[in-house]
Amino acid sequence: MPNLRTPAAATHNLVVELRSILEPLALTELFATGQPLEVELGCGDASFLVEYARRHPQTNFIGVERLLGRLQKLDRKGRRNGLTNLRGVRIESAYFLQYLLPPHSASALHIYFPDPWPKKKHHRHRIINEPFPALARHALQSGGTVFLRTDHAEYFQQMNEVFAASNDFEKVETPAALAEVLTDFERDFNAQGIPTLRAAYQIIA
Ligand SMILES: C[S@@+](CC[C@H](N)C(=O)[O-])C[C@H]1O[C@@H](n2cnc3c(N)ncnc32)[C@H](O)[C@@H]1O
Repeated sequence: MPNLRTPAAATHNLVVELRSILEPLALTELFATGQPLEVELGCGDASFLVEYARRHPQTNFIGVERLLGRLQKLDRKGRRNGLTNLRGVRIESAYFLQYLLPPHSASALHIYFPDPWPKKKHHRHRIINEPFPALARHALQSGGTVFLRTDHAEYFQQMNEVFAASNDFEKVETPAALAEVLTDFERDFNAQGIPTLRAAYQIIA
């Protein structure tokens, strides 16, 4: 007799085996249920995403991460929690948005503590730069939102500047129920007394 209080553990690996990196993902094959989709870019060890997916069973989530070891943590934690609404994809974030995510399929993008590349000559490696709002616009459904967090004041200023320069987005508040779910890096920064800088931008209807 199954224990009905324990969610059935997902039996398959939550890390997607990409059949092609040229064709957009078939989202209906990734998830048991067709429901809104949110994406975290650079999800790290998936601390945030596993907890957020656990709290929101009526939304599907994809974590994008380039390091396999971190995605294996998403897999382990997701399966331990019996999550059927969570998958991970090992690929570069901008490439994922441009080529693998079906256009206008996500209701939210989460980008938390992306690498700040502090040296000026390395700023071009930042995920949030001038082309990013157009990439996000391509990925998001109408009314979709980009949620941003960083510890890095100068990068935060750049994030706000590139979205302010876009005619497609307006600044909105981050809901408290989202802000209270911390990421792994955020926990470490908070423990050192470093505050989280947060912003959110929604596509103008
Ligand atoms: C500073 S960590 C933050 C992880 C997590 N978001 C958090 O707040 O705990 C940045 C993560 O993004 C990943 N990453 C950096 N650049 C990436 C890229 N271009 N595509 C995919 N993942 C990337 C890194 O491997 C790392 O796990």
